[in-house]
Amino acid sequence: MSERDDVLHSWFVQADWNAPTVVGGEGAWLHLEGGRRVLDMSSLAECSNLGHQHPRLVEAIRDQASELCFVTNAWGAKPRADLARRLLELSGFEGGRVFFTNGGADANEHAVKIARMAAGKPEGKIIARDRSYHGATRLAQALSGDSRTQAESNAAALGISHVPPPYAYRCPFGSGSDAHCGELAAAAVAERIDEFGAGQVAAVIMEPNAGTNGIVAPDSYWPALRRATAERDVWLIADEVMSGFGRCGEWFAWQRQGESARPDLMTLAKGLTGAAAPLGAVVLSSDVAGEIEHQMLYTGLTYCGHPLSCAAGLAALAAYEAEGLIDRSRNMGTELLTELQEMQSRHPVIGDVRGGHGLFAVIELVADAATREPIAP
Ligand SMILES: Cc1ncc(COP(=O)(O)O)c(C=O)c1O
Repeated sequence: MSERDDVLHSWFVQADWNAPTVVGGEGAWLHLEGGRRVLDMSSLAECSNLGHQHPRLVEAIRDQASELCFVTNAWGAKPRADLARRLLELSGFEGGRVFFTNGGADANEHAVKIARMAAGKPEGKIIARDRSYHGATRLAQALSGDSRTQAESNAAALGISHVPPPYAYRCPFGSGSDAHCGELAAAAVAERIDEFGAGQVAAVIMEPNAGTNGIVAPDSYWPALRRATAERDVWLIADEVMSGFGRCGEWFAWQRQGESARPDLMTLAKGLTGAAAPLGAVVLSSDVAGEIEHQMLYTGLTYCGHPLSCAAGLAALAAYEAEGLIDRSRNMGTELLTELQEMQSRHPVIGDVRGGHGLFAVIELVADAATREPIAP
């Protein structure tokens, strides 16, 4: 018997899974059983932002394990407190609070729960968008506008409503201008809130830069979304699970548009620990934290702020800073974009190149560059 027979593997027809076993890694390389090395072009699930076996991460986990492996968050724990403080400082969410989770999906579940609680709308609607991914638990799946998860979910029953995305290359609003398409997509959110009535809507959740679905919103989108939600007293949640920690050339992708783009809540995972240990987080602004300060928090996870994971998180933040990796990603992203555009000029199969704010870019393949016919249905 082998792993192939005994383990259920995500996003696979089980009978088709036949991957080799990874026994080690270093930097961008994975080491396979039998001695082969594989270049990890995607940092696994876009999560190993610091490469494999980063010495700072390994050491931090080892040191923490020798002191205290675990304590629930009914008790205090130093790495948890230190990580929350660093996250609030780094993101400029001073006066806010951090709720730690095990990963991205449960961070989004909790962001929705906390947003509804802070809005005083326990049944409040949540607006999300098509071509998005927020995770694979029941609610996160329903938030996602992704072909892999939609069929399984019942968004409306969970109070979730989807709007079209700011997908400028194939603008769902028919605009030929990127900036205009972004504005129309933000206006569609405003319209949806108004249809329900702002008093019925608790929050809007969006990825500032969608990874899995390849949407890089035009610069006009996020600031307009921020204005529309603020004017209507609806919380804005930025899902930074994939786009955070340097991937888009800033600590968090919304920061590209400056202070006026600041969301009310932000969800994190993946690069938070460079994936060396499982950890997610919901970062609350001081306004959101203030609303729930004297309410009972009816939620919890056994491993909330696990000390080993928080120690890894602290080491990851220190590594991003000490090695100048956020700036490096921003600078190399410009080079990457130039190279991809050059490739596009030589290969008609590349219909669009976008992103490159950091080492996160999209090439969209087409059957026909003139008609933009997708290469896959
Ligand atoms: C934007 C975004 N949100 C949430 C998730 C879910 O995170 P997790 O797989 O840790 O539950 C992902 C995972 O790819 C993601 O890309």
